[in-house]
Amino acid sequence: MNDSSTMEPADAALAVLEELKRQRSEGTRHLYMEESTLQGLEELLAGGKKESPPIAAVPDKPRFDQVSEPPAVAKVPLGTQAPEQEKPVPVSQPTPKSVNPALAKPPEISLPDGSKAERWNWLKERVLGCEVCQSELNPGAKVVFGVGNLDADLFFCGEAPGPEEEEAGEPFVGPAGELLDKIISVMGLSRESVYLGNVVNFRPRHERAYGNRPPTSEELNFCLPYLRAQLEIIKPKIVVALGKTATDGLLGPDPQRRLGQMRGNWHEYEGIPMMVTYHPSYLLHNPSKSSKRKVWDDMLLVMEKLELPISEKQRSFFQ
Ligand code: URA
Repeated sequence: MNDSSTMEPADAALAVLEELKRQRSEGTRHLYMEESTLQGLEELLAGGKKESPPIAAVPDKPRFDQVSEPPAVAKVPLGTQAPEQEKPVPVSQPTPKSVNPALAKPPEISLPDGSKAERWNWLKERVLGCEVCQSELNPGAKVVFGVGNLDADLFFCGEAPGPEEEEAGEPFVGPAGELLDKIISVMGLSRESVYLGNVVNFRPRHERAYGNRPPTSEELNFCLPYLRAQLEIIKPKIVVALGKTATDGLLGPDPQRRLGQMRGNWHEYEGIPMMVTYHPSYLLHNPSKSSKRKVWDDMLLVMEKLELPISEKQRSFFQ
């Protein structure tokens, strides 16, 4: 792609559009754009600011060893919400910080006595009825609660629902979920045998016409008691934190934290052994053999700890 500083805004926008269409025709469903890239594009479209950073070719492919997981990036679901050529490309303001003061007061959850199913149903009702979560929803969207086996040994913890999840009201049903399902099945398990939850129960709202935004720390903190209560009910043997946001949500934010250093080692969340690995969305936009191998190595450690059978074939995947 050309350097945007030498392009007219309309040409730059068209070039981006063409590239997005090309990516979609090649089957790309998710891609990452640096915040600076989006801002540069917005500034160009808003009147052309000469010092705007150049529009980076999409998808942005940071060097793997520099990346924990791309932090402030937009995930653009190409298959579902491609920009339309006839309409002007929407120009939005930078993502606003959450302004909902109710988020500052996380819910106090005290689980009732009863069976796992009774406690889980109670909690689910509470979360789906959470007025703060509901007030954060996009029009027509649903609050998303965890799903799976209440006796699961393995609890996968994601970040927040995406567009497919907020529509279905179920976690991990979009492209990242499909990949997670594959990982789970290659482990010899099934989606129904594990538990899938998110740190945040609603899709973080933003003003762009497409893409996702990572949850703010207020949003993470607000929903954390709901996640903690799910862990308290399920009592898994292992929790797998998928990506940096899930890790930050569970362990608390740490600007020094690098996923590349966290993954592959055991950590602990409230006494539960915790494995950190890359989020499936990260693999979708960075599908190199070495990234897949790293996630797989992490899953092999999980399987070993759970004393699951591991075949030679499984051991040698992605080698
Ligand atoms: N990504 C997540 O982190 N959670 C989902 O439920 C879907 C995508």
